Amino acid sequence: MKLKDTGVFITGASKGIGRAIAQTLLREGASVFLAARSERLLSEFCDSCPQTEGKTFYGRMDLLDAASIRVCVAEAIHSLGTIDILINNAGITSQDFLVNQEPEQAALEIQVNYLGMYRVTQTVLPHMLAKGKGMIVNVASTIGKVPSPTQANYSATKAAVIAFSEALRGEVEDHGIRVKIFIPGHTRTEMVRSIKMDSPQTMTPEEVAFHMVRAIRSPKAEYICGGMNEGIIRLHRFFPELARKIMKDISVASYLKPSTAPEPRK
Ligand SMILES: NC(=O)c1ccc[n+]([C@@H]2O[C@H](COP(=O)([O-])OP(=O)(O)OC[C@H]3O[C@@H](n4cnc5c(N)ncnc54)[C@H](OP(=O)(O)O)[C@@H]3O)[C@@H](O)[C@H]2O)c1
Repeated sequence: MKLKDTGVFITGASKGIGRAIAQTLLREGASVFLAARSERLLSEFCDSCPQTEGKTFYGRMDLLDAASIRVCVAEAIHSLGTIDILINNAGITSQDFLVNQEPEQAALEIQVNYLGMYRVTQTVLPHMLAKGKGMIVNVASTIGKVPSPTQANYSATKAAVIAFSEALRGEVEDHGIRVKIFIPGHTRTEMVRSIKMDSPQTMTPEEVAFHMVRAIRSPKAEYICGGMNEGIIRLHRFFPELARKIMKDISVASYLKPSTAPEPRK
């Protein structure tokens, strides 16, 4: 797929993977609209790339606020002229044993990771349907496929993103719209700073952004970043108990501390 002069709307673009995707797509000649809550970071990013003036736009969008989503999508269509590709990238996580997790935190993760992606997609979709073409890329996670103990709720939100994407694909593929699932593994961003997980493979946001470009160009509906991630996902399909044990070793062993471990049953 040709990226030059393609209009791309990216959520969660103020930092981490989203910001790196914006940078990489700009290098490919695309026009990008960056959305997130941190207006200062978004405007600093746009100011830092004067060579792409007329191709870089931003807007404040809080995924908890439906009105801000409607306004931001309308601004993006106005600024870019069209949204050819929507990248639903924004996300949050937390790590704890379920017995310790605040239900409010779980609800927030569902609101941002699942319902936020749902709302943005529902808002952009009529525009793509009217044009009879478009691409939606939903950012999931390896642990949406191979759930991680200590991140049960986050794993569930990412599994929901995968199920949603597969169902939506069946609704819109005959109308010229492609729905893709993009699966990064452990990536060095602010999000994982608070997560204790001795992942055997860690990527940089720039590496993940490189994979995003490949995913957009690929005919595949699901794109997994990196060999190790692909390996554990395949293992889970054919030998689920073995994959489950590896994931448990990686996450619980890294996280386990006397202060956070659940009390053993008497
Ligand atoms: N890092 C990893 O290891 C990893 C692995 C697999 C998948 N992923 C997925 O990759 C995506 C990007 O993660 P990242 O690692 O780049 O995280 P990050 O650096 O923490 O960035 C998260 C982005 O989401 C935005 N965001 C958070 N809450 C929001 C809200 N209420 N409304 C609008 N935007 C909001 C943040 O912007 P503001 O705070 O400015 O709003 C920020 O731009 C997420 O979907 C994550 O689940 C990450």
